[in-house]
Amino acid sequence: MTTYLVTGGAGFIGANFVKYLLKKHREIRVVILDDLTYAGNLGTIQTDLDDPRAVFYKGNIVDPRIVATIFEKYPVDYLVNFAAESHVDRSIENPQLFLQTNILGTQNLLEIAKKSWTTGKDDKGYPTYRKGVKYLQVSTDEVYGSLGETGFFTETTPLDPRSPYSASKTGADLIVVAYSETYKLPVNITRCSNNYGPYHFPEKLIPLIIKNILEGKTLPVYGDGSNVRDWLYVEDHCKAIDRVLQDGRTGEIYNVGGHNEKTNLEIVQLILSTIRNLLEENKSYRSALKPGLLQSSDHFDWISNDLITFVKDRLGHDQRYAIDPAKITRELGWYPETKFEDGIVKTIRWYLENQHWVKEVTSGDYQNYYQQMYGNR
Ligand code: NAD
Ligand code: TYD
Repeated sequence: MTTYLVTGGAGFIGANFVKYLLKKHREIRVVILDDLTYAGNLGTIQTDLDDPRAVFYKGNIVDPRIVATIFEKYPVDYLVNFAAESHVDRSIENPQLFLQTNILGTQNLLEIAKKSWTTGKDDKGYPTYRKGVKYLQVSTDEVYGSLGETGFFTETTPLDPRSPYSASKTGADLIVVAYSETYKLPVNITRCSNNYGPYHFPEKLIPLIIKNILEGKTLPVYGDGSNVRDWLYVEDHCKAIDRVLQDGRTGEIYNVGGHNEKTNLEIVQLILSTIRNLLEENKSYRSALKPGLLQSSDHFDWISNDLITFVKDRLGHDQRYAIDPAKITRELGWYPETKFEDGIVKTIRWYLENQHWVKEVTSGDYQNYYQQMYGNR
């Protein structure tokens, strides 16, 4: 029986990872630690918690007591740290919270994992650890900074973060490396590109655009829409993390990318045309539209590029991210299986079918956040 401690398991990628683990493996226990910030939602993992193999703890990764309690209660084999403040725009407004959660939280997890897993000392004075344990830090390609028109990030690209979010994730990566070098703690770091898929909180580009279209609102594109992101279907990311846990070489960093670069404008235009087609084809999806937007005709001409509004650019907006995932493909046989054309349709269908989830997660502070970021558009 393998015990996974998944921090941030009520958020977008963490919840998808919990679902993936429970589906993929039989003999496991999944302990989820999440502080349920605005980005975490128990409803996302409610059905998973009905599974006797899963258990949930509400708590902050910065708090040593809750983390130690979990390690005392369960024989944790793998700690996978998804918990983080994850939104660049919010990091521009409140950088300190990002340093607290992302850096201090990571160090707290490492420290308690180290203490709990230590079995003794070797002849040089390094701690020795229980066999088979591993700490995996879920990081981001944003630690490498911003690319021009050409080139890719590899694992040896120098770290060059530019936003408070990416600086905090870089700080976290460096403390993970420090525990690996100084205490020989068995660790891996994965650095992935932008994820998309079900349960993505609608403050990030793809789910925000879907939500706005369904409400007949304008679609805010920062700057001129030419910034490029490399989109990865979330389930492919979950598979990559599981592969690294099982067979990744201890102490190594693995880049995880989608081979799928798109400008923001391309993404918004593709979402517009896909939603329009789906609504035209399938009457049952029309209930996802805000009441009043439903027209008697079968045509949705108003779902067009005219909804796009170019708004003030993000401060320090990174121009382009692109990952070279050759190392994880070569060593672990992983590659991004989901073609973007399929993944985006699956994602949009999911949102059309799960408006209750969108309403639930945006019923709290979301309205204030939206008002502050985008005004009354
Ligand atoms: P998310 O914001 O959707 O979820 C974060 C989760 O962490 C939430 O459930 C939240 O409640 C929880 N959390 C936040 N602070 C916490 C704290 N102090 N203690 C305990 N729980 C806390 O984020 P996500 O998009 O799922 O990202 C997960 C991880 O992957 C993050 O570390 C992020 O940096 C990284 N990442 C994300 C992407 C992406 O495209 N979403 C890309 C690269 C890397
Ligand atoms: P986001 O989803 O916030 O991810 P990240 O900043 O971590 O890459 O943003 C993706 C891209 O979309 C980024 O270039 C900023 C842009 N963007 C918009 O143009 N409009 C929006 O409303 C949002 C949220 C993002």
